[in-house]
Amino acid sequence: MSWRVMLWRVSWKVMSWKVSERMPEREPWRVSERMLEQKAGDTGEKETGVENREKQRKRMKQEKQAQMEMGFFWLVLAAMMGGFAALYGLLKKANGWFYESRLGDKQYSLPPGDLGWPLIGNMWSFLRAFKSTDPDSFISGFVHRYGRTGIYKAFMFGSPSIMVTLPETCRRVLMDDEQFVPGWPKATCELIGKKSFIGISYEEHKRLRRITAAPVNGHEALSIYLGYIEETVISTLDKWSVMGSFEFLTELRKLTFRIIMYIFLSSEGEEIMEALEREYTALNYGIRAMAINFPGFAYHKALKARKKLVAILQSVVDQRREMMKNNKSTTKKDMMNALLEVEDESGRKLDDEEIIDILVMYLNAGHESSGHITMWATVFLQEHPEFFRKAKAEQEEIIRNRPPTQKGLSLKEVKQMDYLSKVIDETLRVVNISLVVFREAKTDVNMSGYTIPKGWKVLVWFRSVHTDPEIYPDPKEFNPSRWDDHTPKAGTYLPFGAGSRTCPGNDLAKLEISIFLHYFLLNYQ
Ligand code: HEM
Repeated sequence: MSWRVMLWRVSWKVMSWKVSERMPEREPWRVSERMLEQKAGDTGEKETGVENREKQRKRMKQEKQAQMEMGFFWLVLAAMMGGFAALYGLLKKANGWFYESRLGDKQYSLPPGDLGWPLIGNMWSFLRAFKSTDPDSFISGFVHRYGRTGIYKAFMFGSPSIMVTLPETCRRVLMDDEQFVPGWPKATCELIGKKSFIGISYEEHKRLRRITAAPVNGHEALSIYLGYIEETVISTLDKWSVMGSFEFLTELRKLTFRIIMYIFLSSEGEEIMEALEREYTALNYGIRAMAINFPGFAYHKALKARKKLVAILQSVVDQRREMMKNNKSTTKKDMMNALLEVEDESGRKLDDEEIIDILVMYLNAGHESSGHITMWATVFLQEHPEFFRKAKAEQEEIIRNRPPTQKGLSLKEVKQMDYLSKVIDETLRVVNISLVVFREAKTDVNMSGYTIPKGWKVLVWFRSVHTDPEIYPDPKEFNPSRWDDHTPKAGTYLPFGAGSRTCPGNDLAKLEISIFLHYFLLNYQ
């Protein structure tokens, strides 16, 4: 018998007992008993006194039994409720006890917070907040319970973690490569690649970053790509104009992917491009999903997509190596070539796995966020006609001032897009496409009077900095004018991170978005 049925039965007994105690006259069987007694007296067929006493005894016995059952019921109920409360309290504290007791005395100087439930930690409240209309309720819950310390303990993505949420704490973590290393969840590393920037040593990262970052950023690189980006934007907008209705983000992703492919692989054929882009869409869904490796789940699909991406990129690497072996000069002087040729101090070249993981990472980081931010900037401009008009007027002014011989945009003109730059900065702030980045403490670190224990993850929560009303009044409002004469203080604006891992594609991303918005504002009706 289930406990629900048992409870129902017991409560039915209680109910009937209560009724019989208080209102015997309403009970039909007792009334009919009395009537029978009366009737028997009237007809002279009197029952003997012994029989009456027997009946009375029986009734008293029944009532006593009902009282006992009632007492038992309350006892069981109280025990069950006490048991549940104890179990709840125990489970709620279990994760904390388990991970904190291992720290010895350090546990007493941990930041405030709680490690949530066993196994899932604080993930349930995190997911619930991010599925609601108020994602910031997750961090504001900590602020509300523990004060504005800017540093909290929690259990996130399968690890005991410290979340840092204020400019000073975020910056300190990002700038300190001595005490913090990348600490992305294992599931993310599986998808992006163990030999990508998030999985390699400090020295290796420094070396590979030097080789790869310069060709995607800086004045020289950007002037090389500007023409290609502009051409691609114009032809894409032309294509869209006859497409009827389509999914905006999907098409924008294709556009930004085409650009990053050009930089890294000098645009392989259309087929490879489409196949790669399709797989990247699946990979990205998986990066944002729960790491459940079971058919039907996004993470499982993403792992499969990664396998396909690796196979496609492997075929490109093979082709290039073959060409290099046969001394066939390739006109393709792209990032792939740079990666194939680079040697370290001891003359060691990168192996296929290293090259492919770097490509998987760059091609992904290089199109996904730019596509999203372009979409949101367009949406925000459409939602706010006054900002749209102002941004459009600026672009028209640029065209008016252009020498008649000049064809297309120049970098100088892009730098003059002062208002548009504010539109993009504000979009990056409001959207928070990179809401958090992950680090791990290499040693015990003291911060704001608390200890971050060695081996714990550190989540640098950019989103809470960008939505802090003390830094950005009315933070949910999209208002490019808040950037008028405003230079953000250190650590208060981190859409591209900070320190040695600052996004190497920040200028490229802003260039792509500016060029798209330039043509969109001028020609959109
Ligand atoms: C709006 C667009 C973009 C945003 C918001 C963005 C944001 C970020 C952020 C916050 C980080 C720091 C991660 C950390 O500290 O762990 C990062 C890293 C990175 N981004 Fe971007 N990014 C964008 C576009 C791009 C583009 C276009 C590229 C390609 C050229 C790119 C390539 C990378 C790479 C390779 C890293 C890893 C850097 C490292 O670990 O040294 N991103 N990005």
